[in-house]
Amino acid sequence: MTPVDAREANADHCAREYRQALGRVPTGVAFVSARSPDGEAAGLLINSFTSVSLAPPMVLWCLGLSSRSRPVFAAASTYAVSVLSEDQRSLLSDLCRPLEKRLLGVSIRDGLGGAPIIEAAAAVFECSILTVSRAGDHEVFLGQVERFERREGPPLAYLAGQYGRVHVAA
Ligand SMILES: Cc1cc2nc3c(=O)[nH]c(=O)nc-3n(C[C@H](O)[C@H](O)[C@H](O)COP(=O)(O)O)c2cc1C
Repeated sequence: MTPVDAREANADHCAREYRQALGRVPTGVAFVSARSPDGEAAGLLINSFTSVSLAPPMVLWCLGLSSRSRPVFAAASTYAVSVLSEDQRSLLSDLCRPLEKRLLGVSIRDGLGGAPIIEAAAAVFECSILTVSRAGDHEVFLGQVERFERREGPPLAYLAGQYGRVHVAA
């Protein structure tokens, strides 16, 4: 295995290799959402959600600078993360629709600050936004967890562009 210099001049080759290396990292999949003070809701599918601190409970996720959801997150003071369960795989095509139609027909309820929460999610984290920091082509949303819940049953897994089931070895 030859290491690739991440600052390599051949940017296309490097970017492809970099994405493939990141594809070795299994994650879950979540829908993160917010509502602006004027009542507009937005949300998107993410796999960048991660825990930061246990005490106090803090989490983060990253938002691409080109996301059409950005103005709503910029105006909001809270966000909600709905971690998808394995049996919510059929929701993926809905949650990837254009922003205006993304939540049509999806069972949701309003969480902290009115952020839409997906019913029957594997876990939900309702957060107040602590900081938003620019990091390259993304913004990092650090949040303090105010409320959380979880359900029995496995979460949906994501690896190398594919969705699947977590198999825990005995
Ligand atoms: C599995 C998966 C994971 C994603 N993770 C992120 C993420 O962590 N951050 C992000 O900004 N976009 C992520 N996206 C892309 C967003 O879901 C969305 O399509 C993109 O940000 C465009 O958003 P917009 O429709 O709000 O403009 C991911 C998409 C998929 C399918």
